[in-house]
Amino acid sequence: MGTSEIGLVGLGTMGAALALNIAEKGFDIAVMNRTNSVTRDFVANAGDLAPRLTATEDLQGLVDALATPRAVILMVPAGDVVDDHIERLRAIMDPDDLIIDAGNANFRDTIRRAEAARDSGNPYLGIGVSGGEDGARHGPSIMGGGDRAAWDRISHILTAIAARHEGTPCATYMGPGGAGHFVKAVHNGIEYADMQMIAEIYGLLRDGRGADYGEIASLFERWNDGPLQSYLVEITAKVAAAEDPKTGKPLLSVIEDTAGQKGTGRWTAIEAQHLAAPVPVIEAAVAARNMSAVKDARKAGEDRFGAGAGRFDVPGDETLERAMIAGKIACYTQGFEMLAKASEAFDWGLPLPEIAKVWRAGCIIRSAMLDDMAAALADAPGTSLMLSDSFAKRVEDSTPGLRDTVSKAIAAGHPVPALAAAVTYFDTMRSHRGTADMIQGQRDYFGWHGFARLDDDGRDHHGPWVE
Ligand code: 6PG
Repeated sequence: MGTSEIGLVGLGTMGAALALNIAEKGFDIAVMNRTNSVTRDFVANAGDLAPRLTATEDLQGLVDALATPRAVILMVPAGDVVDDHIERLRAIMDPDDLIIDAGNANFRDTIRRAEAARDSGNPYLGIGVSGGEDGARHGPSIMGGGDRAAWDRISHILTAIAARHEGTPCATYMGPGGAGHFVKAVHNGIEYADMQMIAEIYGLLRDGRGADYGEIASLFERWNDGPLQSYLVEITAKVAAAEDPKTGKPLLSVIEDTAGQKGTGRWTAIEAQHLAAPVPVIEAAVAARNMSAVKDARKAGEDRFGAGAGRFDVPGDETLERAMIAGKIACYTQGFEMLAKASEAFDWGLPLPEIAKVWRAGCIIRSAMLDDMAAALADAPGTSLMLSDSFAKRVEDSTPGLRDTVSKAIAAGHPVPALAAAVTYFDTMRSHRGTADMIQGQRDYFGWHGFARLDDDGRDHHGPWVE
Protein backbone atom coordinates (compact mmCIF):
# COMPACT_ATOMS: atom_id res chain seq x y z
CA MET A 1 0.00 0.00 0.00
CA GLY A 2 1.27 3.44 -0.94
CA THR A 3 1.31 6.68 0.99
CA SER A 4 0.35 9.39 -1.51
CA GLU A 5 -2.82 11.18 -0.41
CA ILE A 6 -4.20 11.65 -3.89
CA GLY A 7 -3.53 10.57 -7.48
CA LEU A 8 -3.86 12.44 -10.76
CA VAL A 9 -4.07 11.04 -14.27
CA GLY A 10 -3.35 13.30 -17.25
CA LEU A 11 -0.42 15.71 -17.19
CA GLY A 12 -1.57 18.05 -19.95
CA THR A 13 -1.41 21.78 -19.29
CA MET A 14 -4.25 21.81 -16.76
CA GLY A 15 -3.40 18.48 -15.12
CA ALA A 16 0.25 19.37 -14.64
CA ALA A 17 -0.64 22.77 -13.17
CA LEU A 18 -3.19 21.23 -10.82
CA ALA A 19 -0.73 18.55 -9.65
CA LEU A 20 1.89 21.19 -8.81
CA ASN A 21 -0.74 23.24 -6.97
CA ILE A 22 -1.71 20.19 -4.90
CA ALA A 23 1.93 19.40 -4.11
CA GLU A 24 2.62 23.01 -3.19
CA LYS A 25 -0.22 22.96 -0.67
CA GLY A 26 1.56 20.13 1.13
CA PHE A 27 -0.16 17.01 -0.19
CA ASP A 28 1.74 14.00 -1.49
CA ILE A 29 0.45 13.20 -4.95
CA ALA A 30 1.05 10.30 -7.34
CA VAL A 31 0.87 11.23 -11.01
CA MET A 32 0.55 9.34 -14.25
CA ASN A 33 0.39 10.23 -17.92
CA ARG A 34 -0.22 8.03 -20.93
CA THR A 35 3.30 8.80 -22.13
CA ASN A 36 5.77 7.84 -19.42
CA SER A 37 8.45 10.29 -20.53
CA VAL A 38 5.99 13.14 -19.87
CA THR A 39 5.53 11.91 -16.29
CA ARG A 40 9.26 11.52 -15.71
CA ASP A 41 10.05 14.98 -17.15
CA PHE A 42 7.25 16.51 -15.13
CA VAL A 43 8.64 15.21 -11.85
CA ALA A 44 12.24 15.94 -12.87
CA ASN A 45 11.32 19.58 -13.54
CA ALA A 46 9.20 20.07 -10.43
CA GLY A 47 12.07 21.57 -8.41
CA ASP A 48 11.30 21.91 -4.70
CA LEU A 49 7.96 20.18 -5.18
CA ALA A 50 9.48 16.96 -6.56
CA PRO A 51 9.66 15.22 -3.15
CA ARG A 52 5.86 15.43 -2.90
CA LEU A 53 5.37 13.86 -6.33
CA THR A 54 5.47 10.17 -7.16
CA ALA A 55 5.82 9.31 -10.83
CA THR A 56 3.93 6.16 -11.82
CA GLU A 57 3.95 4.35 -15.13
CA ASP A 58 0.45 2.95 -15.42
CA LEU A 59 -2.88 2.93 -13.64
CA GLN A 60 -1.91 -0.07 -11.51
CA GLY A 61 1.24 1.76 -10.43
CA LEU A 62 -0.82 4.82 -9.59
CA VAL A 63 -3.32 2.82 -7.55
CA ASP A 64 -0.49 1.07 -5.71
CA ALA A 65 1.10 4.40 -4.82
CA LEU A 66 -2.01 5.67 -3.01
CA ALA A 67 -3.04 5.45 0.61
CA THR A 68 -6.48 3.92 1.15
CA PRO A 69 -9.25 4.79 0.74
CA ARG A 70 -7.88 6.15 -2.51
CA ALA A 71 -8.82 9.25 -4.46
CA VAL A 72 -7.87 9.77 -8.10
CA ILE A 73 -8.40 12.94 -10.12
CA LEU A 74 -8.92 12.49 -13.86
CA MET A 75 -7.62 15.36 -15.99
CA VAL A 76 -8.06 13.64 -19.33
CA PRO A 77 -9.97 14.86 -22.41
CA ALA A 78 -13.75 14.91 -21.93
CA GLY A 79 -15.75 12.11 -23.55
CA ASP A 80 -14.90 8.44 -24.11
CA VAL A 81 -11.43 8.78 -22.59
CA VAL A 82 -13.05 9.48 -19.22
CA ASP A 83 -15.28 6.39 -19.46
CA ASP A 84 -12.30 4.29 -20.46
CA HIS A 85 -10.28 5.45 -17.45
CA ILE A 86 -13.18 4.91 -15.07
CA GLU A 87 -13.62 1.37 -16.33
CA ARG A 88 -9.95 0.53 -16.03
CA LEU A 89 -9.58 2.13 -12.62
CA ARG A 90 -12.69 0.48 -11.20
CA ALA A 91 -11.30 -2.89 -12.21
CA ILE A 92 -8.27 -2.41 -9.96
CA MET A 93 -9.59 -0.12 -7.20
CA ASP A 94 -11.43 -0.92 -3.98
CA PRO A 95 -15.17 -0.20 -3.89
CA ASP A 96 -14.78 2.81 -1.59
CA ASP A 97 -12.03 4.42 -3.67
CA LEU A 98 -13.04 7.75 -5.13
CA ILE A 99 -12.81 8.91 -8.75
CA ILE A 100 -13.00 12.66 -9.42
CA ASP A 101 -13.50 13.87 -12.98
CA ALA A 102 -12.07 17.40 -13.00
CA GLY A 103 -12.19 17.91 -16.78
CA ASN A 104 -14.78 19.89 -18.74
CA ALA A 105 -17.27 17.02 -18.94
CA ASN A 106 -20.76 17.42 -20.32
CA PHE A 107 -22.95 17.29 -17.20
CA ARG A 108 -25.19 14.66 -18.81
CA ASP A 109 -22.19 12.34 -18.99
CA THR A 110 -21.46 13.15 -15.36
CA ILE A 111 -25.04 12.27 -14.36
CA ARG A 112 -24.72 8.95 -16.17
CA ARG A 113 -21.34 8.17 -14.58
CA ALA A 114 -22.53 9.22 -11.13
CA GLU A 115 -25.58 6.95 -11.45
CA ALA A 116 -23.45 4.01 -12.56
CA ALA A 117 -21.07 4.61 -9.66
CA ARG A 118 -23.94 4.82 -7.19
CA ASP A 119 -25.47 1.61 -8.52
CA SER A 120 -22.21 -0.22 -7.93
CA GLY A 121 -21.60 1.48 -4.59
CA ASN A 122 -18.56 3.52 -5.66
CA PRO A 123 -18.02 7.16 -4.74
CA TYR A 124 -17.78 9.58 -7.69
CA LEU A 125 -17.41 13.32 -8.13
CA GLY A 126 -17.62 15.53 -11.23
CA ILE A 127 -16.06 18.88 -10.52
CA GLY A 128 -15.91 21.99 -12.69
CA VAL A 129 -12.52 23.70 -12.54
CA SER A 130 -12.11 27.17 -13.94
CA GLY A 131 -9.22 29.56 -14.27
CA GLY A 132 -7.12 28.33 -17.13
CA GLU A 133 -3.54 27.19 -16.56
CA ASP A 134 -2.70 29.97 -14.13
CA GLY A 135 -5.80 29.24 -12.08
CA ALA A 136 -5.08 25.52 -11.96
CA ARG A 137 -1.52 26.25 -10.82
CA HIS A 138 -2.20 28.98 -8.27
CA GLY A 139 -5.88 28.75 -7.34
CA PRO A 140 -8.84 27.79 -9.52
CA SER A 141 -12.53 28.18 -8.82
CA ILE A 142 -13.99 24.74 -8.08
CA MET A 143 -17.62 23.72 -8.57
CA GLY A 144 -18.20 20.34 -6.96
CA GLY A 145 -20.87 17.81 -7.88
CA GLY A 146 -21.67 14.22 -6.90
CA ASP A 147 -21.78 12.41 -3.55
CA ARG A 148 -21.84 14.81 -0.64
CA ALA A 149 -19.89 12.32 1.50
CA ALA A 150 -17.24 11.98 -1.20
CA TRP A 151 -16.96 15.77 -1.41
CA ASP A 152 -16.54 15.99 2.36
CA ARG A 153 -13.80 13.36 2.18
CA ILE A 154 -11.73 15.32 -0.29
CA SER A 155 -12.79 18.92 0.27
CA HIS A 156 -9.78 19.70 2.50
CA ILE A 157 -7.56 19.25 -0.56
CA LEU A 158 -9.91 21.06 -2.96
CA THR A 159 -10.37 24.04 -0.67
CA ALA A 160 -6.61 24.19 -0.02
CA ILE A 161 -5.80 24.47 -3.73
CA ALA A 162 -8.69 26.80 -4.65
CA ALA A 163 -8.54 30.54 -5.21
CA ARG A 164 -9.49 32.73 -2.26
CA HIS A 165 -11.76 35.73 -2.18
CA GLU A 166 -10.90 37.77 0.92
CA GLY A 167 -9.80 34.56 2.61
CA THR A 168 -12.82 32.45 1.60
CA PRO A 169 -11.91 29.49 -0.63
CA CYS A 170 -13.67 29.40 -3.99
CA ALA A 171 -14.49 25.69 -3.83
CA THR A 172 -18.08 24.76 -3.13
CA TYR A 173 -20.28 21.70 -3.31
CA MET A 174 -23.08 22.50 -5.76
CA GLY A 175 -25.22 19.40 -5.57
CA PRO A 176 -25.52 15.73 -6.54
CA GLY A 177 -24.83 14.09 -9.91
CA GLY A 178 -23.92 16.50 -12.67
CA ALA A 179 -24.51 19.70 -10.68
CA GLY A 180 -20.85 20.77 -10.60
CA HIS A 181 -20.28 20.30 -14.31
CA PHE A 182 -23.60 21.98 -15.09
CA VAL A 183 -22.59 25.06 -13.09
CA LYS A 184 -19.26 25.05 -14.93
CA ALA A 185 -21.07 24.91 -18.29
CA VAL A 186 -23.21 27.92 -17.36
CA HIS A 187 -20.02 29.66 -16.21
CA ASN A 188 -18.64 29.07 -19.69
CA GLY A 189 -21.84 30.26 -21.38
CA ILE A 190 -21.53 33.48 -19.41
CA GLU A 191 -17.81 33.55 -20.27
CA TYR A 192 -18.73 33.44 -23.98
CA ALA A 193 -21.25 36.28 -23.51
CA ASP A 194 -18.88 38.48 -21.49
CA MET A 195 -16.18 37.96 -24.12
CA GLN A 196 -18.55 38.63 -27.02
CA MET A 197 -19.90 41.87 -25.53
CA ILE A 198 -16.34 43.06 -24.94
CA ALA A 199 -15.46 42.12 -28.53
CA GLU A 200 -18.47 44.10 -29.78
CA ILE A 201 -17.39 47.20 -27.85
CA TYR A 202 -13.87 46.69 -29.25
CA GLY A 203 -15.39 46.55 -32.76
CA LEU A 204 -17.29 49.79 -32.18
CA LEU A 205 -14.10 51.49 -31.06
CA ARG A 206 -11.89 50.03 -33.80
CA ASP A 207 -14.20 50.31 -36.79
CA GLY A 208 -16.89 52.81 -35.82
CA ARG A 209 -14.70 55.31 -34.02
CA GLY A 210 -11.41 54.49 -35.73
CA ALA A 211 -9.55 54.28 -32.41
CA ASP A 212 -6.08 52.78 -32.49
CA TYR A 213 -5.13 49.72 -30.44
CA GLY A 214 -3.29 51.76 -27.84
CA GLU A 215 -6.37 53.92 -27.23
CA ILE A 216 -8.52 50.83 -26.98
CA ALA A 217 -6.10 49.26 -24.50
CA SER A 218 -6.09 52.40 -22.32
CA LEU A 219 -9.85 52.61 -22.31
CA PHE A 220 -10.27 49.01 -21.14
CA GLU A 221 -7.57 49.58 -18.57
CA ARG A 222 -9.54 52.54 -17.28
CA TRP A 223 -12.80 50.60 -17.29
CA ASN A 224 -11.08 47.95 -15.24
CA ASP A 225 -10.79 50.47 -12.41
CA GLY A 226 -14.56 51.01 -12.33
CA PRO A 227 -17.75 48.96 -12.01
CA LEU A 228 -16.63 46.67 -14.86
CA GLN A 229 -13.54 45.52 -12.95
CA SER A 230 -13.00 41.94 -14.03
CA TYR A 231 -10.39 39.52 -15.26
CA LEU A 232 -11.75 39.61 -18.81
CA VAL A 233 -11.70 43.42 -19.03
CA GLU A 234 -8.20 43.40 -17.53
CA ILE A 235 -6.83 40.93 -20.09
CA THR A 236 -8.67 42.74 -22.91
CA ALA A 237 -6.49 45.80 -22.20
CA LYS A 238 -3.40 43.61 -22.30
CA VAL A 239 -4.46 41.79 -25.46
CA ALA A 240 -5.19 45.11 -27.22
CA ALA A 241 -1.80 46.51 -26.18
CA ALA A 242 0.26 43.52 -27.32
CA GLU A 243 2.65 43.92 -30.23
CA ASP A 244 3.46 41.28 -32.84
CA PRO A 245 7.18 40.52 -32.54
CA LYS A 246 7.27 39.46 -36.20
CA THR A 247 5.85 42.60 -37.80
CA GLY A 248 5.86 45.18 -35.01
CA LYS A 249 2.13 45.69 -35.66
CA PRO A 250 -0.53 45.39 -32.96
CA LEU A 251 -0.89 41.66 -32.39
CA LEU A 252 -4.67 41.78 -32.73
CA SER A 253 -4.33 43.18 -36.24
CA VAL A 254 -2.65 39.97 -37.41
CA ILE A 255 -4.93 37.47 -35.61
CA GLU A 256 -7.54 35.81 -37.82
CA ASP A 257 -11.07 36.79 -36.82
CA THR A 258 -12.49 33.29 -36.40
CA ALA A 259 -13.08 32.13 -32.82
CA GLY A 260 -12.48 28.59 -31.64
CA GLN A 261 -14.71 26.76 -29.19
CA LYS A 262 -14.40 23.48 -27.38
CA GLY A 263 -18.11 23.24 -26.69
CA THR A 264 -19.03 24.17 -23.16
CA GLY A 265 -20.61 27.51 -24.13
CA ARG A 266 -22.57 25.70 -26.83
CA TRP A 267 -23.76 23.14 -24.27
CA THR A 268 -25.21 25.99 -22.22
CA ALA A 269 -27.25 27.18 -25.19
CA ILE A 270 -28.39 23.62 -25.93
CA GLU A 271 -29.38 22.92 -22.32
CA ALA A 272 -31.13 26.27 -22.10
CA GLN A 273 -33.37 25.07 -24.92
CA HIS A 274 -34.06 21.78 -23.11
CA LEU A 275 -35.00 23.72 -20.00
CA ALA A 276 -36.93 26.43 -21.91
CA ALA A 277 -34.73 28.91 -20.08
CA PRO A 278 -34.35 32.21 -21.94
CA VAL A 279 -30.63 33.02 -22.32
CA PRO A 280 -30.62 35.13 -25.50
CA VAL A 281 -27.35 36.94 -24.71
CA ILE A 282 -25.51 33.64 -24.26
CA GLU A 283 -27.15 32.22 -27.38
CA ALA A 284 -26.15 35.32 -29.35
CA ALA A 285 -22.57 34.87 -28.16
CA VAL A 286 -22.50 31.22 -29.25
CA ALA A 287 -24.05 32.16 -32.61
CA ALA A 288 -21.48 34.95 -33.00
CA ARG A 289 -18.67 32.41 -32.58
CA ASN A 290 -20.33 30.25 -35.20
CA MET A 291 -20.65 33.24 -37.57
CA SER A 292 -17.02 34.13 -36.92
CA ALA A 293 -16.07 30.66 -38.13
CA VAL A 294 -17.68 31.06 -41.56
CA LYS A 295 -15.27 33.67 -42.84
CA ASP A 296 -15.72 32.78 -46.52
CA ALA A 297 -19.47 33.22 -46.26
CA ARG A 298 -18.96 36.58 -44.57
CA LYS A 299 -16.65 37.59 -47.41
CA ALA A 300 -19.27 36.58 -49.97
CA GLY A 301 -21.82 38.70 -48.07
CA GLU A 302 -19.51 41.70 -48.04
CA ASP A 303 -18.75 41.28 -51.75
CA ARG A 304 -22.45 41.20 -52.59
CA PHE A 305 -23.92 43.76 -50.18
CA GLY A 306 -20.95 45.84 -49.09
CA ALA A 307 -19.77 46.05 -45.50
CA GLY A 308 -21.58 48.12 -42.84
CA ALA A 309 -20.97 51.82 -42.43
CA GLY A 310 -17.34 51.89 -41.32
CA ARG A 311 -16.91 55.09 -39.31
CA PHE A 312 -19.97 56.44 -37.55
CA ASP A 313 -20.94 58.46 -34.54
CA VAL A 314 -20.09 55.93 -31.82
CA PRO A 315 -21.39 57.02 -28.39
CA GLY A 316 -18.88 58.36 -25.86
CA ASP A 317 -16.84 56.26 -23.45
CA GLU A 318 -19.26 56.58 -20.54
CA THR A 319 -22.17 55.46 -22.69
CA LEU A 320 -20.19 52.43 -23.88
CA GLU A 321 -19.29 51.62 -20.29
CA ARG A 322 -22.95 51.75 -19.34
CA ALA A 323 -23.81 49.54 -22.32
CA MET A 324 -21.41 46.89 -21.03
CA ILE A 325 -22.79 47.17 -17.49
CA ALA A 326 -26.36 46.72 -18.73
CA GLY A 327 -25.34 43.85 -21.00
CA LYS A 328 -23.53 42.15 -18.17
CA ILE A 329 -26.50 42.41 -15.82
CA ALA A 330 -28.83 41.02 -18.52
CA CYS A 331 -26.45 38.12 -19.19
CA TYR A 332 -25.96 37.18 -15.52
CA THR A 333 -29.68 37.51 -14.86
CA GLN A 334 -30.23 34.95 -17.61
CA GLY A 335 -27.46 32.68 -16.34
CA PHE A 336 -28.77 32.62 -12.78
CA GLU A 337 -32.35 32.12 -13.98
CA MET A 338 -31.15 29.15 -16.00
CA LEU A 339 -29.36 27.74 -12.95
CA ALA A 340 -32.56 28.14 -10.92
CA LYS A 341 -34.57 26.31 -13.58
CA ALA A 342 -32.05 23.48 -13.81
CA SER A 343 -31.94 23.19 -10.06
CA GLU A 344 -35.67 22.58 -10.02
CA ALA A 345 -35.71 20.30 -13.06
CA PHE A 346 -32.90 18.07 -11.73
CA ASP A 347 -33.75 18.51 -8.07
CA TRP A 348 -30.23 19.68 -7.27
CA GLY A 349 -30.88 22.45 -4.77
CA LEU A 350 -28.24 24.66 -6.40
CA PRO A 351 -27.04 27.35 -3.97
CA LEU A 352 -27.26 30.43 -6.24
CA PRO A 353 -25.57 32.93 -3.89
CA GLU A 354 -22.78 30.42 -3.30
CA ILE A 355 -22.33 30.05 -7.04
CA ALA A 356 -21.84 33.80 -7.37
CA LYS A 357 -19.38 33.60 -4.49
CA VAL A 358 -17.38 30.75 -5.97
CA TRP A 359 -17.01 32.78 -9.17
CA ARG A 360 -15.57 35.80 -7.35
CA ALA A 361 -11.97 34.63 -7.64
CA GLY A 362 -9.94 32.15 -9.63
CA CYS A 363 -12.29 31.68 -12.58
CA ILE A 364 -12.35 33.37 -15.96
CA ILE A 365 -15.51 35.40 -15.27
CA ARG A 366 -14.34 36.71 -11.88
CA SER A 367 -15.40 40.31 -11.41
CA ALA A 368 -16.19 42.90 -8.78
CA MET A 369 -19.88 42.78 -9.68
CA LEU A 370 -20.16 39.14 -8.61
CA ASP A 371 -19.74 40.14 -5.00
CA ASP A 372 -22.86 42.32 -5.25
CA MET A 373 -24.64 39.58 -7.17
CA ALA A 374 -23.96 37.10 -4.37
CA ALA A 375 -25.45 39.54 -1.88
CA ALA A 376 -28.47 40.29 -4.10
CA LEU A 377 -29.21 36.59 -4.68
CA ALA A 378 -28.95 35.89 -0.95
CA ASP A 379 -31.14 38.87 0.03
CA ALA A 380 -33.99 38.07 -2.32
CA PRO A 381 -34.11 34.35 -3.15
CA GLY A 382 -36.34 33.62 -6.14
CA THR A 383 -36.10 37.18 -7.46
CA SER A 384 -34.62 37.80 -10.88
CA LEU A 385 -31.22 39.46 -10.44
CA MET A 386 -32.18 42.50 -12.51
CA LEU A 387 -35.23 43.09 -10.29
CA SER A 388 -33.27 42.85 -7.04
CA ASP A 389 -32.99 46.09 -5.07
CA SER A 390 -29.31 46.62 -5.75
CA PHE A 391 -29.42 45.78 -9.46
CA ALA A 392 -32.72 47.34 -10.57
CA LYS A 393 -31.24 50.80 -10.03
CA ARG A 394 -28.12 49.88 -12.05
CA VAL A 395 -30.35 48.56 -14.82
CA GLU A 396 -32.24 51.86 -14.91
CA ASP A 397 -29.01 53.83 -15.01
CA SER A 398 -27.21 51.73 -17.60
CA THR A 399 -29.88 50.54 -20.03
CA PRO A 400 -30.23 53.92 -21.81
CA GLY A 401 -26.51 53.66 -22.63
CA LEU A 402 -27.03 50.17 -23.99
CA ARG A 403 -29.99 51.32 -26.07
CA ASP A 404 -28.09 54.30 -27.45
CA THR A 405 -25.09 52.13 -28.34
CA VAL A 406 -27.13 49.38 -29.98
CA SER A 407 -29.43 51.72 -31.91
CA LYS A 408 -26.52 53.77 -33.32
CA ALA A 409 -24.69 50.59 -34.29
CA ILE A 410 -27.74 49.08 -35.96
CA ALA A 411 -28.50 52.33 -37.80
CA ALA A 412 -24.94 52.29 -39.13
CA GLY A 413 -25.07 48.61 -40.13
CA HIS A 414 -22.52 47.60 -37.52
CA PRO A 415 -23.07 44.14 -35.93
CA VAL A 416 -23.61 43.97 -32.15
CA PRO A 417 -25.54 40.69 -31.72
CA ALA A 418 -25.01 40.11 -27.99
CA LEU A 419 -25.56 43.73 -26.93
CA ALA A 420 -28.69 43.84 -29.10
CA ALA A 421 -29.92 40.62 -27.49
CA ALA A 422 -29.40 42.21 -24.08
CA VAL A 423 -31.50 45.29 -24.79
CA THR A 424 -34.21 43.21 -26.44
CA TYR A 425 -34.26 40.90 -23.42
CA PHE A 426 -34.72 43.89 -21.15
CA ASP A 427 -37.58 45.27 -23.24
CA THR A 428 -39.25 41.87 -23.49
CA MET A 429 -38.95 41.22 -19.78
CA ARG A 430 -40.69 44.47 -18.93
CA SER A 431 -43.64 43.90 -21.28
CA HIS A 432 -46.52 42.39 -19.38
CA ARG A 433 -48.69 42.37 -22.48
CA GLY A 434 -46.57 40.67 -25.16
CA THR A 435 -47.47 39.50 -28.66
CA ALA A 436 -47.81 35.75 -28.15
CA ASP A 437 -51.59 36.17 -28.41
CA MET A 438 -50.87 36.23 -32.14
CA ILE A 439 -48.80 33.03 -31.90
CA GLN A 440 -51.63 31.36 -30.00
CA GLY A 441 -54.15 32.56 -32.57
CA GLN A 442 -52.03 31.17 -35.40
CA ARG A 443 -51.52 27.85 -33.59
CA ASP A 444 -55.20 27.49 -33.03
CA TYR A 445 -55.98 28.49 -36.61
CA PHE A 446 -53.78 25.87 -38.24
CA GLY A 447 -53.76 23.16 -35.59
CA TRP A 448 -56.70 23.69 -33.24
CA HIS A 449 -54.15 23.86 -30.38
CA GLY A 450 -56.40 25.95 -28.17
CA PHE A 451 -55.67 29.11 -26.21
CA ALA A 452 -56.34 30.59 -22.80
CA ARG A 453 -58.50 33.74 -22.58
CA LEU A 454 -57.58 36.72 -20.41
CA ASP A 455 -61.13 36.81 -19.08
CA ASP A 456 -61.35 33.14 -18.22
CA ASP A 457 -59.01 30.56 -16.62
CA GLY A 458 -59.99 27.72 -18.95
CA ARG A 459 -57.23 26.53 -21.29
CA ASP A 460 -59.24 25.16 -24.12
CA HIS A 461 -60.73 27.96 -26.15
CA HIS A 462 -60.78 27.98 -29.93
CA GLY A 463 -61.58 30.23 -32.91
CA PRO A 464 -63.91 30.74 -34.80
CA TRP A 465 -61.46 31.62 -37.59
CA VAL A 466 -62.65 32.94 -40.88
CA GLU A 467 -61.32 31.10 -43.93
C1 6PG B 1 -12.18 28.17 -17.66
C2 6PG B 1 -12.36 28.14 -19.13
C3 6PG B 1 -11.78 26.88 -19.65
C4 6PG B 1 -11.45 26.95 -21.09
C5 6PG B 1 -12.55 26.58 -21.99
C6 6PG B 1 -12.81 27.60 -23.06
O1 6PG B 1 -13.16 28.40 -17.00
O2 6PG B 1 -11.05 27.98 -17.22
O3 6PG B 1 -13.70 28.23 -19.47
O4 6PG B 1 -12.60 25.83 -19.26
O5 6PG B 1 -10.90 28.14 -21.44
O6 6PG B 1 -12.11 25.39 -22.53
O7 6PG B 1 -13.44 26.96 -24.04
P1 6PG B 1 -13.63 27.35 -25.53
O8 6PG B 1 -12.51 26.67 -26.28
O9 6PG B 1 -14.94 26.79 -25.82
O10 6PG B 1 -13.54 28.84 -25.68
